[in-house]
Amino acid sequence: MFSQPMIYLDNAATSFPKPAECLRRALDLYLTCGASPGRGGYDRAVEAEAMVQAVRDKIAGLFGAARGARVCFAANATDALNTLILGLLETGDHVVTTRLEHNSVLRPLNHLQQSLGIGVEHVPFNKSGFVEPDRIDACLRPETRVVIVNHASNVLGTVQPVAAIGAICKARGIPLVVDASQSAGCIPILMEQWGITGLAFTGHKSLLGPTGTGGLVLAPDLDLAPSRFGGSGVDSMNPFQPDEYPFRLEAGTSNLLGILGLGESIDFVAAHMERFREEERRLTARLVEGLRAVPSGRIHLFAADAIGRHLPVVTCRVDGIASSDVGAILDGDFEIAVRTGLHCAPLVHADLGTAPSGAVRFSLGPFTTEADIDAAIRAMAAIAG
Ligand SMILES: Cc1ncc(COP(=O)(O)O)c(C=O)c1O
Repeated sequence: MFSQPMIYLDNAATSFPKPAECLRRALDLYLTCGASPGRGGYDRAVEAEAMVQAVRDKIAGLFGAARGARVCFAANATDALNTLILGLLETGDHVVTTRLEHNSVLRPLNHLQQSLGIGVEHVPFNKSGFVEPDRIDACLRPETRVVIVNHASNVLGTVQPVAAIGAICKARGIPLVVDASQSAGCIPILMEQWGITGLAFTGHKSLLGPTGTGGLVLAPDLDLAPSRFGGSGVDSMNPFQPDEYPFRLEAGTSNLLGILGLGESIDFVAAHMERFREEERRLTARLVEGLRAVPSGRIHLFAADAIGRHLPVVTCRVDGIASSDVGAILDGDFEIAVRTGLHCAPLVHADLGTAPSGAVRFSLGPFTTEADIDAAIRAMAAIAG
């Protein structure tokens, strides 16, 4: 039914494989107690709600959120970022963001620029792939409503200095929103300590959970207007969405199976994060060295000079060969899965000079082996030879 066993180096798109025991445990729970959480006073519904609340608590703990922080589930990071951006911004607002952002941030902001006339400033990244906090500071204005930063670039892997940016935002009284789609589950995140007011995450990447999961963690003083309306299981006579969280931002029946799967995978990730991180660092360095050593010199790596401050993501191009062709050869001849193209981050590629065809991205995960990396290096040497 499925293709041959492959070497999977597209973990930045979604992690694979997933820890099977987590999904099995979630399925067991779901089969035992699959009532709709928060939608009934009978025991099973109350128990289902308690299980969902336990996952909210785990998420707040994992990300170092302040006491009283709100955790709201969403379908993925895109859904969470839309909820946040549409719920926060109004006509006349100004936003400072970066040229490292994913379309999940760029497009909602572009939409509001067009529909509400908000102002948006995209701060550039330096040659090593980092946004300098001073450059963010220089863009802040009295009407700046929020700063939105991609914690770790899904193209370059560079981890941004969020704590320093948070200190600047705190001093200026401006909320800091972080897109932690790539970083959540891969590296520690300390929301309260770093001054992050809103965090968007997705469940299916380094958190190793199922697709269809993600959400927002909001500091207690960051209020959002709802942008979707409907059943909440409480306050049904109210003609409007209830003010209370999470109901304010969660309309409709929740993804119980997905949330339970995410809860299980968070336990798994939290227990192993340090070990996974160390091995991913070692293998990322091996890949970088291996690609650099390809004798033809036709492989060009992007922003790979500070690899210690990267997630396990390596992006390159091969002189004279379209990136899509490199990806097709890796897949067809070597059974290696990578992501080519623009990676939903058009401004990054515009600045790298790789738009519109893009580049070749290798992204490692906790189950990547040294043999996978060596096979990728050999394949790239053959392609670029
Ligand atoms: C930096 C970044 N932001 C947002 C997203 C969107 O995540 P999702 O597809 O889970 O909505 C991604 C996924 O590729 C990403 O890498």
